[in-house]
Amino acid sequence: MDAIPEHQVRSMRIGLIGAGWVTQHHLTAWRTHAARARVVAITDPNTSQAQLRAGAFGIDQIFSNAQQMLERGELDAVDVAAPRETHAQMVRLAAQHGLPVLCQKPLAPTYEEACALVAEIQGRTRLMVHENWRFRPYYRQASRWLQEQRIGQVVQAQMSFLTSGLIADEQGRYATIDRQPFMATLSRALVMEILIHHIDTLRFLLGNLQLVHARLGKGCDAMAGEDRASLVFENASGATVILLSNLRVWGEPAAKPDELLLVGERGCIRLSGNSLSCQGDRPEQIQYDLAACYTDSYAAAIGHFLDRLSDGQQFETDPRDNLQTLRLVEEIYSVGLRG
Ligand SMILES: NC(=O)c1ccc[n+]([C@@H]2O[C@H](COP(=O)([O-])OP(=O)(O)OC[C@H]3O[C@@H](n4cnc5c(N)ncnc54)[C@H](O)[C@@H]3O)[C@@H](O)[C@H]2O)c1
Repeated sequence: MDAIPEHQVRSMRIGLIGAGWVTQHHLTAWRTHAARARVVAITDPNTSQAQLRAGAFGIDQIFSNAQQMLERGELDAVDVAAPRETHAQMVRLAAQHGLPVLCQKPLAPTYEEACALVAEIQGRTRLMVHENWRFRPYYRQASRWLQEQRIGQVVQAQMSFLTSGLIADEQGRYATIDRQPFMATLSRALVMEILIHHIDTLRFLLGNLQLVHARLGKGCDAMAGEDRASLVFENASGATVILLSNLRVWGEPAAKPDELLLVGERGCIRLSGNSLSCQGDRPEQIQYDLAACYTDSYAAAIGHFLDRLSDGQQFETDPRDNLQTLRLVEEIYSVGLRG
């Protein structure tokens, strides 16, 4: 599909669909690209929430309905940050209006629905899935070290995401649910909502993966879906890739960054706390401001969307790429809950 001329990209008018929790990060990120694009309209059926965001971020137009926003907003692109069950409908709507679209993960509630959507919109508009995790600065650095062959071929990888966010505090509250109440209602919870990022990041670092083993479990009565997962994958060169996650781990903080170990034939890369290190012939260690990395990942994902619209090149997380992540997620759910 053709590149959008630079003068048009500089002044792009963006319409934001959804005004919930995550949009504070979207809007902060769009601000960092103010020279090239501006969110000029926002829509949410919860208009008081839309008004709140519009007031805080200086958005001119508020709509209660996405169709109206697309008809009247004179937009150049759409950013979808509404719940997962609305994504396919919103992407179709953007395609009908010929507008490029950046859509939050997961692209659809199931792999099948996502495949149908991708087939339908192919050639009609440009779609990037908003997978910001892989844009975190420490994962970009780890990827550079891998490309520079600093640790040789990776033979084993282990990533973990362990928190106590679903252990009740003294008031009987759960930090994970306080942060994002809809988490409790999801029948596909931990993997589809959170670990989808880790799976996408592992694919970004290690190439496409095959699922070898999956176990899902639920320990928190307040959750409709799973809150722990033990997953094993293999990449194309035969490296074993383990992803372990549980939101009910005593002794862990309520929110915690990922841990990662990549063991190569000549060294290893380790992410622990705020430190990323490369051990081997040329040892190196970098400390990160984790809160800044979180914010930066949204800005980098949105920057990538604008860059690729501008030069017409492929998005890293275009539908073809993202369906690989969703296929793995679907396969994981096919094993069902085991207690
Ligand atoms: N990339 C990340 O790191 C990350 C983090 C959090 C959430 N997310 C994703 O962002 C999306 C939204 O999550 P959230 O935490 O903001 O949820 P939320 O529940 O806080 O907000 C969702 C908002 O969408 C609105 N909405 C519902 N139907 C709508 C419609 N038809 N049109 C417009 N708005 C509509 C709701 O009224 C609500 O205000 C989800 O897909 C979630 O997976 C991504």
